[in-house]
Amino acid sequence: MDGPSGSGKSSVSRGVARALGLRYLDTGAMYRAMTWWMLEQGVDVADHDAVATRAAEPEIVSGTDPDGPTIHIDGVDVAGPIREAAVTGAVSHVAAVPEVRSRLVALQRRIIGEGDIVVEGRDIGTVVAPDAAVKLYLTASAEARALRRTAELNGTTVAAQQADMARRDTLDSTRKTDPLSMAAGAVELDTTPLTLQEVIDTVLSVVKERT
Ligand code: DC
Repeated sequence: MDGPSGSGKSSVSRGVARALGLRYLDTGAMYRAMTWWMLEQGVDVADHDAVATRAAEPEIVSGTDPDGPTIHIDGVDVAGPIREAAVTGAVSHVAAVPEVRSRLVALQRRIIGEGDIVVEGRDIGTVVAPDAAVKLYLTASAEARALRRTAELNGTTVAAQQADMARRDTLDSTRKTDPLSMAAGAVELDTTPLTLQEVIDTVLSVVKERT
């Protein structure tokens, strides 16, 4: 399941995994954890070479229960801190570094193993699991995405969220390595007019049809 932030990927992926008794992996959380660690280490995240040099160091462990996904880096539970503004502001820089991507993609493939998992991110259908049985690409209008994200966070406005998402979208879809794009054979779903349950039901019917 790929798509930009606020398209509904996380809630939909978890709901689908729960409904089908599958595991769930949030790859964005892994890029966020790597970013949190770089900031903790005092690495200048705008310096690609500095980030690349340290990318192999931290140990990242992702728990794949859709009812309680977890993320630890070097043994520290970072589920909370990775959602903070400092990480959100820096993650697109860290995620653009090829050494970071190749390390995390290898880790993601190990977790995916034989499958039976719903994986969400930006490059899952294109790079991480191009042979996935079902590929989805979720979109939503810029306003709907900003409204959803504003409802999840405190102390922000729709306008500020929309501006921040536009900045991240540009960085994520124009980077040289594995930019956000729709995979060949993916089903595109515009979630703007739909409730969460409607999106989950639509995805479940696509899964049924294709598997
Ligand atoms: O889904 P998210 O907002 O938590 O993702 C955080 C950032 O990580 C996002 O701005 C782009 C990057 N990312 C990526 O490059 N590739 C992925 N598979 C998942 C996320």
